[in-house]
Amino acid sequence: MAINHEAAGRNRLRLEPAGLPVTAITKRHAREVISSGSQMVPPCNKGSDRSGRDFLFAMSSTDLAYELRPPRVEDSEAIVRMHAQSWLDAYPNEAEGISKEHIAKIVYEKMLSPTGVTRRQGYVQAYVDNPDDGTFYRIATAGNKVIGFVVGTKDTQGQSLDALYVDKQVYGTGVAQALFDAFLAWTDPALPISVDVVRYNERAVGFYKKQGFKKIPGSDYTHHSGMPSIKMKREPV
Ligand SMILES: CC(C)(COP(=O)(O)OP(=O)(O)OC[C@H]1O[C@@H](n2cnc3c(N)ncnc32)[C@H](O)[C@@H]1OP(=O)(O)O)[C@@H](O)C(=O)NCCC(=O)NCCS
Repeated sequence: MAINHEAAGRNRLRLEPAGLPVTAITKRHAREVISSGSQMVPPCNKGSDRSGRDFLFAMSSTDLAYELRPPRVEDSEAIVRMHAQSWLDAYPNEAEGISKEHIAKIVYEKMLSPTGVTRRQGYVQAYVDNPDDGTFYRIATAGNKVIGFVVGTKDTQGQSLDALYVDKQVYGTGVAQALFDAFLAWTDPALPISVDVVRYNERAVGFYKKQGFKKIPGSDYTHHSGMPSIKMKREPV
């Protein structure tokens, strides 16, 4: 992550809107917060730069302030925007024949269209109305910004991790790990967990391997978005 001490002050770590992965210190701190059992650290401060873009900063280089909580319907648009940006960041891959234009078309015509936003509100509303009905949903927020979310489901057929996305600015900070751990605590430990992932998405595959998932042999398929995908499974430990 780009650290702008000049603009943000000597003791503040500025999280640039299009920053790179954060420092090892921040990552270590996030792990400490998680291992201490807390899901919340002091609220993040919010400011804006000269061009009016919002940024978030923690009070010191060892603080990354975020909170995990169930979504509210009014979070829906922020969730879908963060999700859409994550698609733009993670999925274009010219070598695999998945162009930026292809992903942008899905993002702008499906996810961010009025229908897409309404659909997302519907998902969140359904969860809010029946939070114990086989779906697990948490968002990570820093200040008033959504920086990640996780959705999982379980039914008589099994349990799956359906979506885990974090803002590129917080890759490697432990936010994704905290969301995953919260999901894991909700699952039945006696049953396997499945997840579908884009085959060339090495960061996500690496993350899931770290959590004990293995590729299911012969599970390659083409997702309806056109992206080559695989299925991974985590056996009970
Ligand atoms: C997948 C995602 C949630 C993981 O969160 P993260 O904070 O990036 O994950 P971490 O940094 O903890 O772990 C990533 C691991 O992948 C591995 N990795 C990272 N970059 C890699 C690369 N280019 N090639 C191979 N492995 C890589 C590393 O082993 C790393 O773990 P470690 O450095 O702690 O050993 C996040 O990257 C994300 O939101 N990506 C975009 C959305 C997405 O792909 N979601 C999954 C949909 S199924």
